Amino acid sequence: MADPVVATAYKPHDMKFRYLGSTGLQVSVFSFGGWLTIGGTQKGAIVKELMQVAWDHGIQTFDNAETYSNGASEIEMGQALKELGWPRDEYVLTTKIFFGTGRKEPNTRGLSRKHIVEGLKSSLARLQTPYVDVVFAHRPDPATPMLEIVEAFTQAIRNLNLAYYWGTSEWSAHQITEATLLAEKHNLIAPSAEQPQYNAFHRERFEVEYVPLFEKYGLGTTIWSPLAGGLLTGKYNEGIPEDSRYATNKDFFNDTIKQLKSPEGQAKIEKVRKLTAIAERLDAKVTHLSLAWAAKNPDVSTVILGATKVEQILDNLKALPLIEKLTPEIMAEIEEVLGNKPSGPNTFGRNR
Ligand SMILES: NC(=O)c1ccc[n+]([C@@H]2O[C@H](COP(=O)([O-])OP(=O)(O)OC[C@H]3O[C@@H](n4cnc5c(N)ncnc54)[C@H](OP(=O)(O)O)[C@@H]3O)[C@@H](O)[C@H]2O)c1
Repeated sequence: MADPVVATAYKPHDMKFRYLGSTGLQVSVFSFGGWLTIGGTQKGAIVKELMQVAWDHGIQTFDNAETYSNGASEIEMGQALKELGWPRDEYVLTTKIFFGTGRKEPNTRGLSRKHIVEGLKSSLARLQTPYVDVVFAHRPDPATPMLEIVEAFTQAIRNLNLAYYWGTSEWSAHQITEATLLAEKHNLIAPSAEQPQYNAFHRERFEVEYVPLFEKYGLGTTIWSPLAGGLLTGKYNEGIPEDSRYATNKDFFNDTIKQLKSPEGQAKIEKVRKLTAIAERLDAKVTHLSLAWAAKNPDVSTVILGATKVEQILDNLKALPLIEKLTPEIMAEIEEVLGNKPSGPNTFGRNR
């Protein structure tokens, strides 16, 4: 029976969904984020267009952070969400607290109880929403006691209703374990997910360090830079295109650009060329292969896409049907090209 109050706007199309780790929250396997793009190089009508196209193709999970373009990303995304008018229970919205919005006062960044609560309230005001589904601690804060951090996120969820779940971003396995054990000990809420970088060129932490967290705690993941910032699209094979992020954010990517010209950078480009050949045999592009490769990992809950153009979102979603086409044989071929599979921990022959 149709909902008598709210009409459904969301149509999942061919999108796949995964639970965010051991939570009951479902996220679309591809999601859409706003770093550098929304509120950065892209503002106004294009933001709404990008979000509409994502939504029309089944993306229902959107990521942001207080620090993205110093708060402008949340403002742009919030305004687009307001104008698009989708029912709030049909999409998943996440944001991240830690870096603040560029202000330099002592308490406007970090993970003190004060900044977690005040920072999150400010994020929500910019996003024009009473809550986010998941709030992430954008980095660990060695200056704040871990118990204060876990208590503050619990308070934000349990007492203030500002979020339903909390997670971490780029925390070590040790720090996530400490937070989880403290939550268990003090009847607080443990982190449900981590937001790490994960792509074919950046694997070690995800595939080795976090494995016990996936096994023991069912930690979910919302992974970032699945295309290594665009490197895995092949767009940087012959230099830096004028409208690419390396050109539009030249100062920020200064070191990355230098690295690209180094022998290590050129070796990566060579691998992109070889991956392109594998992709073409599957009637796909290296972009699709790279995104499908990341999504193939069952410990990935959602792959966050970044895009400056509608065509990029449409292009990237061609990775969806490719996930199933990546057979063990093809995965082995990709592995051979990459040559960077991290070796797991020494089990001293005690394998289960
Ligand atoms: N937690 C964290 O610390 C953290 C850090 C970074 C990102 N994130 C999150 O993860 C999201 C994704 O990260 P990311 O933007 O680095 O992802 P990415 O997929 O590695 O890079 C996205 C960029 O690649 C280019 N691109 C994408 N699709 C393309 C296509 N089909 N053809 C050609 N170029 C294409 C676009 O750049 P141009 O058009 O500019 O060339 C786009 O902005 C962010 O928006 C953010 O939500 C989180």
